[in-house]
Amino acid sequence: MNTLNWSELTFGFIPTDYNVRCTYKDGRWGHLEVSSDPFISVHMAATSLHYGQEAFEGLKAFMGKDGKIRVFRPDENAKRLQHTCDGIMMPKLPEELFIEAVKKAVMMNKRFVPPYGTGASLYIRPLLIGTSPQVGVKPSNEYLFLIFVTPVGPYFKEGFKPTPMVILRQYDRAAPLGTGTYKVGGNYAAGLLPGEKAHAMGYSAVLYLDAKEKKYIDECGPANFFGIRENTYITPESTSILPSITNKSLMQLAQDMGMKVEKRRVPVEELSTFEEAGACGTAAVISPIERIDDLDANVSYSFSKNGEAGPVCTKLYHKLRAIQYGDEPDVYHWNLIVE
Ligand code: PLP
Ligand code: COI
Repeated sequence: MNTLNWSELTFGFIPTDYNVRCTYKDGRWGHLEVSSDPFISVHMAATSLHYGQEAFEGLKAFMGKDGKIRVFRPDENAKRLQHTCDGIMMPKLPEELFIEAVKKAVMMNKRFVPPYGTGASLYIRPLLIGTSPQVGVKPSNEYLFLIFVTPVGPYFKEGFKPTPMVILRQYDRAAPLGTGTYKVGGNYAAGLLPGEKAHAMGYSAVLYLDAKEKKYIDECGPANFFGIRENTYITPESTSILPSITNKSLMQLAQDMGMKVEKRRVPVEELSTFEEAGACGTAAVISPIERIDDLDANVSYSFSKNGEAGPVCTKLYHKLRAIQYGDEPDVYHWNLIVE
């Protein structure tokens, strides 16, 4: 612990002291429990293991200059988890229980919240899994909810530097009426092969198109997409992307900065008109995009000429970070202060 170099953290897993857990049995949720065991004991026939009855969330806690720990918009993650629960037939975790678990997980691991000024944060990972044994394809009767935390640095190793992304038209992430709007592991499993292919070719991520027509932009593997043109923030509307809390926040901040905000279908050719482009998410924060290569169409779209992030991405990035670290007023009460 004493040897943790906060400024050098990557987006990996570093063990922390405790995790919190809660089980669902006989039709109701139990009490929160604290554990120091990083392992869970799961029946080999559990529905989560065989039929993907599994959901997760991702949020962050930040240490402020004032020594206060702020968690960014946990109520939104609680609601999104409930949306996912509805989508894959899991019992909804009450919002208050989710928030209580987040607070407890952060407080119990307070010494792992990276100090102010290091650029790092404490990543909070809630997980909900079906635990009853089943061989037939049906929902579990019992569930385990848990939260672990781990200190992290930037998701893309370049941090706030533009990186190239790629469109691989032979792969889909999620079907138009499938599970794309839910945060379930299966969506990420679908992205492993294209993601590794992209990495091997030097790209930081895959940018997926809509699976039906391959005409519109969906999102990146781990983040939403936005483009900037003529003082307008443009981001895809789609039935197969995750509703990003970061994107929702950036839309508000862009509007507050006097920009126009458009959430609508974004044809892939429109990429040629964007002055800047970025990927946004809890892990990614804002990751500016240097260029997007549409390999099968043999077209390349470029956004960064000097290898630096554009002015709008930069402004939005600093604004969001300032709110999260408590450097600027939190006018929308997005932060939950944990003490
Ligand atoms: N899209 C996908 C596929 C993601 O995994 C994430 C990360 O959570 C996001 C978008 C961004 O969502 P949020 O800003 O809520 O973290
Ligand atoms: C997040 O940003 O919290 C995510 O869940 C993305 C992830 C796949 C690391």
